[in-house]
Amino acid sequence: MSTDTVKFLLPEAELPTHWINLLPDLPGDPMPPLNPQTMQPAGPDDLTPIFPMGVIQQEVSMEPEVEIPDEVREVYKLWRPTPLYRARRLEKTLDTPAHIYYKYEGVSPAGSHKPNSAVAQAYEHKQAGVKRLSTETGAGQWGSALALACQLFGLECVIYMVGASYDQKPYRRSMMQTWGATVHRSPSDTTDAGRSQASHPTGSLGIAISEAVEVAAKDADTNYSLGSVLNHVCLHQTVIGQEAIAQMGMAGEEPDVVVGCVGGGSNFAGLSFPFIRRLLRGEAKTRFLAAEPAACPTLTRGAYRYDFGDTVGMTPLLPMYTLGHDFVPPPVHAGGLRYHGDAPMLCGLVKAGVIEARAYAQNPAFEAAVTFARNEGIVPGPEPAHAIRAGVDEALAAREAGEERVILIGLSGHGHFDMSAYDDYLAGKLEDVEFSEQDMQAALARLPEAPAIA
Ligand SMILES: Cc1ncc(COP(=O)(O)O)c(C=O)c1O
Repeated sequence: MSTDTVKFLLPEAELPTHWINLLPDLPGDPMPPLNPQTMQPAGPDDLTPIFPMGVIQQEVSMEPEVEIPDEVREVYKLWRPTPLYRARRLEKTLDTPAHIYYKYEGVSPAGSHKPNSAVAQAYEHKQAGVKRLSTETGAGQWGSALALACQLFGLECVIYMVGASYDQKPYRRSMMQTWGATVHRSPSDTTDAGRSQASHPTGSLGIAISEAVEVAAKDADTNYSLGSVLNHVCLHQTVIGQEAIAQMGMAGEEPDVVVGCVGGGSNFAGLSFPFIRRLLRGEAKTRFLAAEPAACPTLTRGAYRYDFGDTVGMTPLLPMYTLGHDFVPPPVHAGGLRYHGDAPMLCGLVKAGVIEARAYAQNPAFEAAVTFARNEGIVPGPEPAHAIRAGVDEALAAREAGEERVILIGLSGHGHFDMSAYDDYLAGKLEDVEFSEQDMQAALARLPEAPAIA
């Protein structure tokens, strides 16, 4: 047996003690969310109907580090620290001088990075005396994560699942129900927002968010919980990047490029922000590459504007790249990437040129995912399949350039509940659905009147 290390593992004692908050390190003044009625910065009062104070404090904190409560770290121990792998077999198959690493979040009980934030949020809501959480889920990953977290902290959980995913992934629904949650197909007839969107039966994350927010806003015992986009969610995910920094240290390497997929931005933020902080402080020269679906190309084709986080306009306005809050992306298999906007912090970094973005159609993404599975064993989720496509392209570019490029890929989850997508791909039946520029322009014309952003 060779001495070549494949897995870089940290002991439980090295689980991070703090989350990293990139907000104070960002260039320029932070752009606040706006109250859509007054167009003034949204303060804690705008958020208290749906979020507890602990979460609001994390959302607006300017502390560079935020301590992780002990109870949350205890739960993290069920699967954290997660492994970092060197993809030696993939490197050989690609015949590349690049060194490819991947940080694997699929070892969590729900199979993705999402429990990192679900557990942190459920804890804060429990502390605040909340009885029930409502949320949306696209691919089913966030819903399963929150169902698990609510179960562990003794909260009820109601989930609006995007129609297209609900139909494609019945076992994700069973998983959420196994962890005690109630699951509705969205658009549903249980909310005004759902009833108003009945003409979009495949649903979208934006519609499901509207339903979940409405339920929380109308019931004093119910709070809302969001699985991506907001600052506190990105914050919670930074355990990923901190562990990866330590593990790359064990491997004796520095990544030249960090690659991840972007739906609302949370796994990408989680992996990259600790590395980006080093770049912003002049301590490293890393490139960052965000991969998104060509069917929902927020970062590469969207407008940089203030927009609602949900479809029917119940949330504060967020400064972000957006396709328009009521744009309904075509139903691609990477359900978790079908969101019209992205995390404001991440968008600001794209705007500033710190993060590059590329869009990929689903066939090339699945082609890379199958190559990955045939070499590394793990069957990636359709969302990180986009990151793997981008990482493989980087490795092929390194081969062309004859460079020993070090590539770190965020493998945010496995695809065990996505085998129907693999079925379609393997049968040659996967369609590269077209993104409609016309639909996006029409949706952008319906954006709220808000101050322009630079
Ligand atoms: C495995 C996986 N990766 C990525 C995403 C995209 O979300 P985010 O951009 O917030 O990480 C999702 C969303 O459901 C997911 O399930």
